[in-house]
This record gives sequence, C-alpha cells and structure tokens, in this order.
Amino acid sequence: MLTAEQIQSNWEEFTENIHKYITGGRKEKLLGFYRKYEERITIMPAAHKKEYHNSFPGGYVEHVNRVVRCAIKQCQLWEEEGADVTTFTVEELVFSAINHDLGKMGNEEHESYIPQTDKWRKDKLGEDYMFNKQVPFASVPDRGLFMLQSHGIRYSFNEMLAIQTHDGLYDEANNKYLKAFMPEQKPRTSLPFILHQADMMAARIEFEREWLPKFKNPVPPQKESFILNTESKKSTKDKALSQLESKGLKDLFDKL
Ligand SMILES: [Fe+2]
Repeated sequence: MLTAEQIQSNWEEFTENIHKYITGGRKEKLLGFYRKYEERITIMPAAHKKEYHNSFPGGYVEHVNRVVRCAIKQCQLWEEEGADVTTFTVEELVFSAINHDLGKMGNEEHESYIPQTDKWRKDKLGEDYMFNKQVPFASVPDRGLFMLQSHGIRYSFNEMLAIQTHDGLYDEANNKYLKAFMPEQKPRTSLPFILHQADMMAARIEFEREWLPKFKNPVPPQKESFILNTESKKSTKDKALSQLESKGLKDLFDKL
C-alpha cells in the first residue's frame, strides 16, 4: 500500500515525464487529458487482483512510472549492445510507456476497476476490485488508443505499434506483429520489444514485492511419519480372524 504522500509524489513524477519528454501541440493535450481524469487515475490500481501486480490504490501510476524508468534504461542497454535506436525517438519511447496501460482506466464515463462487492471473492481470492460491467469490453491497448484519439491526442505509427504489442507474446493478438517469419513483416524498430521488456520487468518487480515475503513465512512442521505402523496395527484379515472363536474356522480362513 502507498501513503497519500507517495501517491502525490508519484503523480508529480508522472506529469513531470510529460513536461520533460512530450513536445509539440500534443503536450498540452496530454496534460489536459490527465488533468481531466486526475482524480480517477491517481488512485487507480494496476490490476483488479493481487495475483497480478500493484492491485492497490495508486498502483497504476506507480507501475507506469516504473515502466518509463525501465524503458529508458532498457533502451540504453539495447543501444550499447548494437540495436539501431535511431528507428524511434526518446519521445516515442516515453509516450508509449506513459500510455501503454491507459486502457485500464475504462471509458470516459466509467472506471474499469471498482471495489469488489463480493465478500467471499475479496477474502478468499484477494480481489479488492472487480471489473465494472458498465464498461463494454475492449482490450487494454485498443481502449487506450481509443481514449487518446477521442481526446485529439495524435500518436505515431511506432507508438501505435508499441502500445498495441506491449504485452508481447503473452497476448495472442500480437502474433501477427511479433511472430512473422518474413523479414519485411517484422517490426522495423526495436521499440515494441524494449517497451515489452520494461513492462514485464516492472510487473515482475511488483509481483515479487507483493508475494515473495509471503512465501518466506515458515511452513508448519509436518508429522514425522505418514506411514501406518503395520507392526502395531492388525491387518483386516487379522482383525477378522481374532473375532472367530472356533479354532477350526480360524485355521480354515487363515489358509485363504
Ligand atoms: Fe503495464
């Protein structure tokens, strides 16, 4: 869980990234968009259940900020190892990272994640949130891109591709972009792979932070032996024989 101060400073980092990296006419539009939805987005979780990652108030912005930082660092690694990072701009990298999960916010009217009302699911499955049925289904990338375009925020072909495929091959819908065998059908930039790695890295770190401490709790000691002590316990046959009084019958059944 995050404190109110952490939620506030995460929001400042989020908007500073827009100020620092986004240029042109869309900078003000993007800032205006996030100002409009500030109250919703600042306290949004990154997922509806704890098994995923950052399923707590403020978890979304914390995750997005981590993806931005990881994307910038991953980009440096790719460049050092020889990737052609001139095929995209730093602005495209950061814009894609900032908006990669935007579709999780829901639509203009309704949030996607609302407090769980089913006590059993909350207690037993750790679902503090549930999907809002008022929001018609769309994949996270599709809804995110729709929200950007419906607010007049333009994005480049590279940004569209990176946001669309940020889940990598975890999403079968990305096969057409990422599993192509013909060289001309493969992405012409490493941006989608860099964003996917940054997102996976951030989500994994957030998963570890939530779950590894729980697995460190000592396991209750097991009983020394689960094997029945056959010497001290009579077999079914012995029990049956012991109930017979006639020696003749005992001898007869004992030979069976
Ligand atoms: Fe993400």
